[in-house]
Amino acid sequence: MGFYGDQILPRITHKLTGTQIAREQRARVCDGLAGEVVEIGFGSGPNTAFYPRAVTAVVAVEPSDVAWKLAEQRVRATSVPVRRAGLDGQSLPFEDDSFDAALSTWTMCTIPDLQAALDELRRVLKPGGELHFVEHGLAPDENVRRWQHRLDPLQGRIFGGCHLDRPIVDSMREAGFEVREVDAYYEKGAPKVLGANSLGVAVSP
Ligand SMILES: C[S@@+](CC[C@H](N)C(=O)[O-])C[C@H]1O[C@@H](n2cnc3c(N)ncnc32)[C@H](O)[C@@H]1O
Repeated sequence: MGFYGDQILPRITHKLTGTQIAREQRARVCDGLAGEVVEIGFGSGPNTAFYPRAVTAVVAVEPSDVAWKLAEQRVRATSVPVRRAGLDGQSLPFEDDSFDAALSTWTMCTIPDLQAALDELRRVLKPGGELHFVEHGLAPDENVRRWQHRLDPLQGRIFGGCHLDRPIVDSMREAGFEVREVDAYYEKGAPKVLGANSLGVAVSP
């Protein structure tokens, strides 16, 4: 990825992900997680503070060594055992039906082949396993969408392949998830092109 992507971007992301508004959404999305959880795009571990007591272990999938290093303190601070056991959400090194739940926060915008990652999540989740997600993606309004399409190439260059205009919840349905709850909203204080969030739970049948 080069020096910027490898060294600088994970540090920028680390700084940006701890805002109060993000913390509120992390608390909501982690609510109800239980058992053994796979978290894709673990980053520097900003969700660790919000894992409920019912979570018995978290298996982190994260390609960036720098982000994983930045996560050290947070991983030590949580009472939930966390280990890094995968580098790429598109190809998970786990058996079928291994996890009770999955977590993804602002990651599905960046994984190059989202459909592959969703297929992998379905494969490793037990039947009835829940995918908890908060993601930014394609806005509900046409005028915002137009800007998202225009700015998408620039966003990708600055933020390591992040896409503004992915229809993420539709992609979950295409992958066979049953989207049980979803709240779609513009994040307060964020530009609409970047803050068209969907927060919810999808179930692997
Ligand atoms: C915008 S950051 C979000 C980090 C964290 N989930 C959060 O909520 O702050 C996107 C994360 O996805 C990770 N990522 C990129 N490509 C990935 C892939 N193929 N599989 C899993 N994670 C990936 C990045 O390294 C980065 O940590």
